[in-house]
Parts: sequence; C-alpha cells; structure tokens
Amino acid sequence: MNSGVVSTRSVKALEPGSPARVRGWVYRHRDLGKKVFIVLRDSEGILQLVADPAFTPREYVEAAREATIESSIIAEGVVARDPRAPGGAELRLRKLEIVGLAEDFPIKGGEGIDYLLDNRHLWIRSRKLTAVWRIRHTALKAFREFFEARGFWEVSPPMLTQAAVEGGATLFKVDFFGRPAYLTQSSQFYLEALIFSLEKVWTLAPSFRAERSRTRRHLYEYWHLEAEEAWAGMEEEMRLVEELVAYTTRRILEERLEELSLLKRDTEMLEASRKPGYPRIRYEEAIRRLREKGLSIEYGDDIGADEERLLTEDYDTPFFITHFPLELKSFYMKPDPQNPREALAFDLLAPEGIGEIVGGSERQEDYNALLQQIKDRGLNPEDYKWYLDLRRYGSVRHSGFGLGVDRYIMWVAGLDHIRDSIPFPRFRDRIYP
Ligand code: 4AD
Ligand code: MG
Repeated sequence: MNSGVVSTRSVKALEPGSPARVRGWVYRHRDLGKKVFIVLRDSEGILQLVADPAFTPREYVEAAREATIESSIIAEGVVARDPRAPGGAELRLRKLEIVGLAEDFPIKGGEGIDYLLDNRHLWIRSRKLTAVWRIRHTALKAFREFFEARGFWEVSPPMLTQAAVEGGATLFKVDFFGRPAYLTQSSQFYLEALIFSLEKVWTLAPSFRAERSRTRRHLYEYWHLEAEEAWAGMEEEMRLVEELVAYTTRRILEERLEELSLLKRDTEMLEASRKPGYPRIRYEEAIRRLREKGLSIEYGDDIGADEERLLTEDYDTPFFITHFPLELKSFYMKPDPQNPREALAFDLLAPEGIGEIVGGSERQEDYNALLQQIKDRGLNPEDYKWYLDLRRYGSVRHSGFGLGVDRYIMWVAGLDHIRDSIPFPRFRDRIYP
C-alpha cells in the first residue's frame, strides 16, 4: 500500500470527496471514545485524520486508537473540508495501517533544555526545528545559485591541516600518526592557492574552533561559506558579500514564508535586507558610537559580542564595519595604503543583536611584506612556507571572505541560540548525540 501516496500539503489542494493516501507520523492523538482524531505529520506539514465508525471500518478505527504518538502510519480516506482542522481540510479514514508502532515518546513538551539536547536525535522531528532545516536548505541552495550565476568554481579543500589560519589559540589538535595536525579553522589558504588557476572559487565546509566561549553564537564545529577572488580589492569583495546576503535572504522570503511564520519570525526586518547597499562604517566610527552609548572603549580595543550588539541597535539591515587596526585582525590582511595602521578588512554584522556573520579582507599579496607580517606576529615562517610560495609565482591582488552559515540562519530564522540552526550542534561540552 505504498503507491499513490500524496503529501499532507497536496491533500489540502484536492477537491472534497477525492480519495487520498498519505503516510507519516502521529503528531497528535485524540481518542473521543467513538471517534479518533489523529494529526499526521510528514515532511511537508500536518493533516488531520478522522476515524469514525460512520465511515471507517471497525478494525481501522481500532488501529487509529492504538496508533501512539510518533508511530509511523499509512492511511487512506476521503478529503473533506473542515474549518476546525489545521489547514481547513481533513481526511475521513477508510483504512489505516500502523507501520512502526512507537514506544512511549520521551518528549512530551515542557522538558528542560539539557534533556532535550540529550534527546536531540528525537527532538529534531519537532515542527519548529523542521522549519529551520527547511530554511537552511533554501539558504544552501541560494548560495550555490548565487556563485554559479557569477562564474565562481566550487572547490573541496581539506579539513585536516598543518597550520593555523585564524590563530593557534582555537585549534583542535588531532593525532596524525604520531605527528600533530589540526582541524581546519578556515579554508581560506587553500582557496587562495586555487585562485591561481580558477580565479574565482568558493566552498561550503565545516570549520572548527576550540573557543571556550559560552555565547549563544559560538559552535565548535560550524559551516563556513568561503570565497576568494583573484584581481579583486576590498570594495569589490564587500559588494559581493552584500549581494550574496541580499540574494539569499530574498530567496528565503520567496520560498520559506510558511516556515518563517511557524517560527513567528517578524519578516519586516528581512524585507529591509533583501536589497544590497548595506550601510558601512569604519572601525573608528564604531568606537565613537560606542563611546556615545556610554561605553569606556578606546581606539585599538576589540569590538566583541557585547559591543556588536550595541551597534546593531542603530540598523535594521546588516551593515559593515571596515578598516580595523592591524593588531586586531589576522596576519595575512593587507594594510590600507592610505593609512598603514589599518587593515583592508571588513566584518558584516547582522541586526537584531546578532552581530558578525561575515569576516573578509584584501590579502597581502607581496612576498616580502607578508613575510614581515608573519614575523611581526611572532609566527614561524616555516609553518607558512607553502602559503608564502603563492606570493612567489605570479602573485595578484586578491580578496575573500567567510560567512558563518549557522549564524546567518540564526538571524534569518530569528533563533535565540545558534544551537537550533543546525541539527546536531557541537557546543559547550556536547558531542552527543
Ligand atoms: O571572522 P573569521 O574568523 O574569518 C575567517 O575565518 C577568514 N579566514 C574567512 C575568510 O576570509 N575566508 O570567521 C568567519 C565567520 C565569522 O564571521 C562568523 O560568522 C563565523 O565564521 N564563525 C563562527 N560561527 C559559529 N561558531 C564559531 N565559533 C565561529 N567562529 C567564526
Ligand atoms: Mg571575524
């Protein structure tokens, strides 16, 4: 009885009186003695099923009665309109088969967060999280559409690496047959190597950060969308970033309104962000604003999560902060020729308190200057031998960026915590399930 199955969503489009066969999981169950109401959940949504001796053979009324929460079932019936049913339609059952009878489901509602995280493999079935996975799918699809339309090549860099991209403090060390190796923090250096043949490259891959920060926006393992472009300066790169974010946000508004509404996301904010042309402020200006807001912060201080949250109060779209002091940023960035104390670097911050979702820069393309920058940071040039080589054979101006996919999803979906942007989050002390 597997053929001719339709989704809960398409049942609602059928004429009343049409026969339909559906399958899925028991989401709600109400036994009224004579009648039994089941709300069926499948990947497309939910649908009310009614078993009633008036139109359902007795054995199937009994099967409906026995179908516990989260049991998998296949059901056949006739479509009827009912304004009280979710979505305005229901299926009056003629047949019901229990495929997998569920034991007492451990999640009933009202459980604490640690319990839910221990049961994440079951909790991910929830309608709320399912809506997030669907939004995430559309974001990933839009990223790919965007880069494809712009002639970027998708590449696959390694996750096991030898040296730090973003500083030694947050490296996860692994045992590489007795030698130390690390899980990658960023694919940037490999993308830089690939621009010398492909010119414009991008990748979507996990990045790993052993940051002991217990914030609502840090994961140990996150999905990193990175791109690198030969011949491009910081300006062009910022334009690429805002067009990417605007395009993806627009696609999500086009395709995932139902999910956003299920999540009670206020879409006004997102509407404002669907066009590029996001505001830009220099680091210097950001510091001035923070001081105006009463913070005792000075030029040269880091702009952390708390400061970022304050700055987001001034905007209702993503916005850039540019031209950070060199010491605050990574060794590979190019100093601004106009003001060599500042880097040609930018962050894109999402509004509503989220903060940094993208970090990017123009790269130092000169061999001697890069060697000096490595030494200035007390790093060992030996560790960056192949990276330096890229500046020895036909070096060109180039720029790139990395977008934290999970943080972007957190913003778009209006989530309180980054853990709900990804099915199996790695954060705090969690590596199960
Ligand atoms: O700013 P970051 O450290 O930049 C880089 O890694 C560059 N090498 C990227 C590049 O130019 N190719 O990280 C980029 C983005 C951040 O803006 C943030 O959105 C995200 O990665 N990110 C994290 N997301 C979740 N959890 C963490 N622990 C994250 N650390 C960074
Ligand atoms: Mg950053």
